[in-house]
Amino acid sequence: EQIPTIQIKDAPQYVGQRVKIGAWLRQKRGSGKMAFLQLRDGTAFFQGVVAKADVPETVFETAKELKQETSMYVYGVIHADDRSSFGYEMKVDQIDVIGESHDYPITPKEHGTDFLFDERHLYLRHIKPFATLKIRNTLIAATYEFFNKEGFIKLDAPLLTGSAPEGTTELFETDYFGQDAYLSQTGQLYAEAGAMAFSKVFTFGPAFRAEKSKTRRHLTEFWMIEPEMAFYDQDASMALQERYVAFLIEKVLEQNDQELDMLGRDKELLRSYTQLPFPRISYDDAIKLLQDNGFDVDWGVDFGSPEETFLANHFSKPVFIVNFPKAIKAFYMKRHPEREDVVISADLLAPEGYGEIIGGSERDTDYDYLKQRIEEDGLGLDEYNWYLDLRKYGSVPHSGFGLGLERMVTFVTGEEHIREAIPFPRMMHRLRP
Ligand code: 4AD
Ligand code: MG
Repeated sequence: EQIPTIQIKDAPQYVGQRVKIGAWLRQKRGSGKMAFLQLRDGTAFFQGVVAKADVPETVFETAKELKQETSMYVYGVIHADDRSSFGYEMKVDQIDVIGESHDYPITPKEHGTDFLFDERHLYLRHIKPFATLKIRNTLIAATYEFFNKEGFIKLDAPLLTGSAPEGTTELFETDYFGQDAYLSQTGQLYAEAGAMAFSKVFTFGPAFRAEKSKTRRHLTEFWMIEPEMAFYDQDASMALQERYVAFLIEKVLEQNDQELDMLGRDKELLRSYTQLPFPRISYDDAIKLLQDNGFDVDWGVDFGSPEETFLANHFSKPVFIVNFPKAIKAFYMKRHPEREDVVISADLLAPEGYGEIIGGSERDTDYDYLKQRIEEDGLGLDEYNWYLDLRKYGSVPHSGFGLGLERMVTFVTGEEHIREAIPFPRMMHRLRP
């Protein structure tokens, strides 16, 4: 007899057939006559039913002895099962145990978050991480799809660098054969070089920031997508940004219906965020709006989490805050043509308290100005001579932005804390597993 070996996700195509599946036991319940095995195989979750009356004595005994996370091959016929959310189950008639599991630490009872993340290497197997990280994967694939479709090429930026363009206070330093080196905070400067060579590029890789703050939005190692476009002004860049974000949300709605349900995410609300354009409000007006609503903020401050949450909720949509004060933004941002004190920049704030998902700007193209700003910020001119070359040899207007992948994951999945959005989070007090 040829028995097809299948994965749980494909069970609907095998109704009425006897199949073999490699799986792990999540949970088990039963009586003297029946055993109900909650199984997972990494593609989906479903139930295997073992009926004492229908199987050899040894099979039922094996089923009764199975422990949480034991791995096995199960054999049986697939049936439709309207009572489960998956819709199918297996009538198990044979079980070959592969790997035993004793005293698995993550039991069905409630566990604290610290414990779950100490056990992250095992916690990955559970429903919430499964759904969240599947959605992360959709966002990654959709990013490549979107930028390929838009004519971008992916440019890989180095992760060991000599520069610190996003500020020197949050640097991870390392020794590079006797020279100071840093883990990259951003691929942007390299993306700018790439845009002058390939017109439209994006980098996609890890970024490192020694964030000493313990917030639910900051990781010390996160993944960032940084598109950079020659001949784009800031308006063209923002139009691209909102199309990209809407595309990401649409892809998740299309491909992760079950995962969104597992996480209890409101899909209609998510869909409402795909309506373009996103509102745009100046930093000046944002400050006024905050003041009118009882926030104690003065012009010139950076927004904290309560301010960002208020602003995006006010519009019930992702909102662009444009033209921030020069003093609180990075050196490369383009000066406003009429105002000394602001730069041509935008942060995209997500609603429902998920914070800033994108930061971007048009880039200044003036050699002398940038040189002066690099010196003012104490960044060390030696590390930026190559960057200044881009302003010396056929400089053109250009713009770009960075989207934080994990911020986007929390926004789309509705997860409260950014540590859920990455397989192995790195935060101030977490370096393992
Ligand atoms: O606003 P940021 O610092 O911008 C840049 O790095 C620019 N070089 C981007 C560019 O113009 N090419 O970071 C961009 C985004 C933020 O909006 C946020 O989503 C995310 O990266 N981000 C973080 N995510 C998690 N943990 C952190 N510590 C983050 N810092 C920034
Ligand atoms: Mg920012």
